[in-house]
Amino acid sequence: MASKHGRRTILVTGGAGFIGSHLVECLLEQDEIVRVLDNFSTGKREHLGRLGNLQGASRNLEVIEGDIRNYSVVAEACEGVDAILHQAALGSVPRSVEDPMTTQQVNADGTLNVFIAAKEHGISRVVYASSSSVYGDSAAQRKREGEEGAVLSPYALTKKNNEEYGRLFEDLYGLETVGLRYFNVYGPRQDPNSQYAAVIPRFVSALLSGSRPIVYGTGLQSRDFTFVRDVVEANLLAVDAPRSACGKAYNVGRGGNFSLLDLLAVLQEIIGNRIEPLFEAPRPGDVMHSSADISLASEVLGYRPRYGLQEGLEVTVEWYREQIGITVR
Ligand SMILES: NC(=O)c1ccc[n+]([C@@H]2O[C@H](COP(=O)([O-])OP(=O)(O)OC[C@H]3O[C@@H](n4cnc5c(N)ncnc54)[C@H](O)[C@@H]3O)[C@@H](O)[C@H]2O)c1
Repeated sequence: MASKHGRRTILVTGGAGFIGSHLVECLLEQDEIVRVLDNFSTGKREHLGRLGNLQGASRNLEVIEGDIRNYSVVAEACEGVDAILHQAALGSVPRSVEDPMTTQQVNADGTLNVFIAAKEHGISRVVYASSSSVYGDSAAQRKREGEEGAVLSPYALTKKNNEEYGRLFEDLYGLETVGLRYFNVYGPRQDPNSQYAAVIPRFVSALLSGSRPIVYGTGLQSRDFTFVRDVVEANLLAVDAPRSACGKAYNVGRGGNFSLLDLLAVLQEIIGNRIEPLFEAPRPGDVMHSSADISLASEVLGYRPRYGLQEGLEVTVEWYREQIGITVR
């Protein structure tokens, strides 16, 4: 999909966040014009500030501070846009269990605002972030599209709601939507400090600072860990995928299957610190096993993840070390 002028203007909601900022960086490198809509609730200005060194970044990047819960803000951000990569949301299952209403308003109502504004502005395509959590209590070790279980958290319910609206907007209004079900994304810029931090930043920051990593439950629960650059690639493929790919959601994982204890062992090796974990009670809403069957995304979108866990974690650990000023071994 190309704009009338050859270059495209792409709106990245949540562009100051972990995944969003990697998308922005890659789009700027590809000489696209990028507009970010973010309320900086969990995203950081410095993630975008760092991109200032990219050639043409200041000319091609526009940042709007605003909230996707406010329809007029979203509508304004959609002016002159060719496609949307919608990442803005409140992540974290535990946060949604504590505060289902805010998660619902941001993730579900906010996404509906994005779909409506896209339709009203004649934007041809919206690629939006869904989540592996939509598989809920499905007992399958490998999750396949079409075999979802009952959702286990308000967060998962909002992502399921996004997918249903994505399909409806395609059917009712011809808005091209593609959902991407991310499986445990990790990489540079992921926040280790929030109380809702994901497992990899939590483990890395504990090991680097010499404190015991906390494992909720037995540590035998398994996950598919996806490096952020593969997620960026999936988004770019989805923007340009054929029309027939739209109205659906696709698994975006690595296709791996590691227990949290496996993950910890790899990180201990990379960091060179064998400090033992502390086990705490399992967290409500967490699923036991979550690994992606990526054959549909591979077949329809041409998605081929390139980063294995070891390689992705090495890049990630190096980044965290630089942040806290610890010299890489
Ligand atoms: N990181 C993962 O492992 C993972 C897994 C599955 C799905 N996802 C989804 O991917 C997307 C990006 O996640 P992330 O890990 O980069 O999280 P993040 O918290 O780093 O990024 C989310 C961004 O959205 C912004 N935002 C939040 N509420 C907003 C609002 N009301 N209005 C405008 N902006 C708002 C935040 O400030 C932040 O910049 C989210 O939709 C998330 O649900 C992430």
